[in-house]
Amino acid sequence: MLQEVQDLSWKYLRMYPLRDIMWKIEESNQEVFEDLYTTYTKLLSQNASSPHCDDFCYRTYNFSKAGVITVKETCKLICDGTTGMCTWEASHVLADWCCRESHRFQNKRILELGAGLGLLGLAVIQSCKPLSYIFTDLHHSVLKTLKENIYINLKEKHSGLTLQESEEATSSDDWAKGIQVSYSDTDVLIKRLDWERDTCDDDIEVILAADVVYDTDVIVHLVKILKDILSKRPRVVAYIASALRNPATYTFFKDALVDCGLHTCTETYHQYQESPSQPPVSITIHHILP
Ligand SMILES: C[S@@+](CC[C@H](N)C(=O)[O-])C[C@H]1O[C@@H](n2cnc3c(N)ncnc32)[C@H](O)[C@@H]1O
Repeated sequence: MLQEVQDLSWKYLRMYPLRDIMWKIEESNQEVFEDLYTTYTKLLSQNASSPHCDDFCYRTYNFSKAGVITVKETCKLICDGTTGMCTWEASHVLADWCCRESHRFQNKRILELGAGLGLLGLAVIQSCKPLSYIFTDLHHSVLKTLKENIYINLKEKHSGLTLQESEEATSSDDWAKGIQVSYSDTDVLIKRLDWERDTCDDDIEVILAADVVYDTDVIVHLVKILKDILSKRPRVVAYIASALRNPATYTFFKDALVDCGLHTCTETYHQYQESPSQPPVSITIHHILP
């Protein structure tokens, strides 16, 4: 087991977080090797004490319909206290699916929850031509980098703001109101939306979210805001893509949807493999109706 753990690349850990590995060992009534606990707590304290993410890279993602998208991101799964500073597998799968199903999103008003660094929205804007797209997230550092990614990818056609000019305008009040960018026929808004505290008053027809089902504490607030938005707008449909990591967490999400009266009309299954050397990840896309 120790050798196995030592051999884990950061990417493998991304598929199977250390905590999940320890749960699996405990579930099978085996003893968790002490070094594993020590490593886990060390990682947690490193994350808590690292106030800034400064080791950014630029990754390019290629979509047949949306073309190449460049995302400024980190290799850290958690930094600045958020999971939003890197791009997760489910957003790639949902982006690919949206590009293929573009008729569902064309001329629609779309809200994305937990948008992270923007890969999904950038692909949808460029391939599906929605009427409006609202990127939302909670963390200041995620919103700031998300805005940079939007400018990097949409700058040729945006309404004339430069990145330097727009950087001045990022107080928390601005994030609450939202920062607007016009791109081609789509009105783009980048906005802070906390599932726990905020409500959504925007006029929307579709909700998208990728890799937001990973922690039961977070799922409670996610389902609450989904219920709030969908019950006020009976024609809105939500598409939520999740990587199947911990079956118990996934079941918790599905039960929470049922408990608050939300209806999953279909659930499609996908496999994502970033490269032949990486293990494939199972992803599902839930279509949720009020
Ligand atoms: C695992 S990341 C996924 C990011 C992106 N969707 C992707 O797939 O690459 C989860 C995202 O949910 C956001 N998030 C977590 N709790 C939130 C909350 N209470 N309100 C709003 N966003 C939240 C995080 O900031 C983070 O960006």
